[in-house]
Amino acid sequence: MPRIFSGIQPSGELHIGNYLGAVQNWVALQEQYESFFCIVDYHAITAPYAPDELRRRTREMATSLLASGLDPAKCAVFVQSRVPEHTELAWIFNTITPLGELERQVAFKEKAARQAQVMAGLLNYPVLQAADILLYLADSVPVGEDQVQHLELSRVIARNWNSRFAPEGEPYFPEPHPKLTPTRRIAGLDGQAKMSKSLGNTIGLLESSDEIWAKLRPAVTDPARVRKTDAGNPDNCPVVFGLHKAFSPAATVTEVDTNCRSAGWGCVDCKKVLLESMNAELAPVRARAQVLAEQPSLVDAALDAGVEKARAVAHGTIEHVRDRMGLA
Ligand code: AMP
Ligand code: TRP
Repeated sequence: MPRIFSGIQPSGELHIGNYLGAVQNWVALQEQYESFFCIVDYHAITAPYAPDELRRRTREMATSLLASGLDPAKCAVFVQSRVPEHTELAWIFNTITPLGELERQVAFKEKAARQAQVMAGLLNYPVLQAADILLYLADSVPVGEDQVQHLELSRVIARNWNSRFAPEGEPYFPEPHPKLTPTRRIAGLDGQAKMSKSLGNTIGLLESSDEIWAKLRPAVTDPARVRKTDAGNPDNCPVVFGLHKAFSPAATVTEVDTNCRSAGWGCVDCKKVLLESMNAELAPVRARAQVLAEQPSLVDAALDAGVEKARAVAHGTIEHVRDRMGLA
């Protein structure tokens, strides 16, 4: 089976944008690939944070990933800082990464511009990401568009290491490629930007039906529909129609389209149908999360199994790397 690796930062509660844009795809991929999904806490500490909160969020992220359907029997779900080989390989890779490559990373420049003092860890963030991926000799990385430049750098690092330390014509590290998630950019509840934790326009993956309704009910729709009898255009309704496309069956999406254009349904009717579709998808996720919250040992067991699978592979890679590099 070909191998994939992906990572997610434990930097906030998982929202339905993350779920639809990334995690749902991982759940499908675990069937076809030997899969490693890593909660990257060493990456998270490159931004200001509180230790207790990090611990809680790491745990929450694990619960949400498992509740979403990542199955510890099929894939490895684990926490990065429990596999010390990640930081070991990152140090090694720092010695073969040109400084200029790091300084021109767009993500670095954007984050650095927001900090009063820029720490070295922020600059070296993509080196750790390359180590994450290459430690497992993964050649395919399911991520969003924003990670493409980081993966380019991972390929540079793989090539640099191979050319210095692998025998001619026998590269050791594969050059990892992004496996782009079919772009389903979920709009935030404000309809102004993409759904994002930092914008406060999210619906949390584990929110209850009532909580979701409290957010859906006032959500913006086509501004042309002032009264219930005004005909609308679903293309001018990115939030509610966008969520219908993500959650409702194709037949329902068609029905929504027709009834919006003919003013057959008012926006509240349409939102009620949406709530039903969302509950159909999310109720089982909430139920699994509930079970995991009541039996925390299930989460521990999943993370322990994940770390064991990860370390078995990571150990082999590091041994090989140390040997080729003349490290004792
Ligand atoms: P982030 O925490 O923003 O880095 O996102 C983690 C993952 O969720 C990435 O793979 C993103 O591409 C995906 N993602 C985040 N927000 C959205 C959104 N509004 N719509 C679709 N995918 C998203
Ligand atoms: N940088 C990624 C993000 O912000 C997270 C990440 C860390 C990652 N290591 C990774 C993603 C390795 C893919 C592969 O989303």
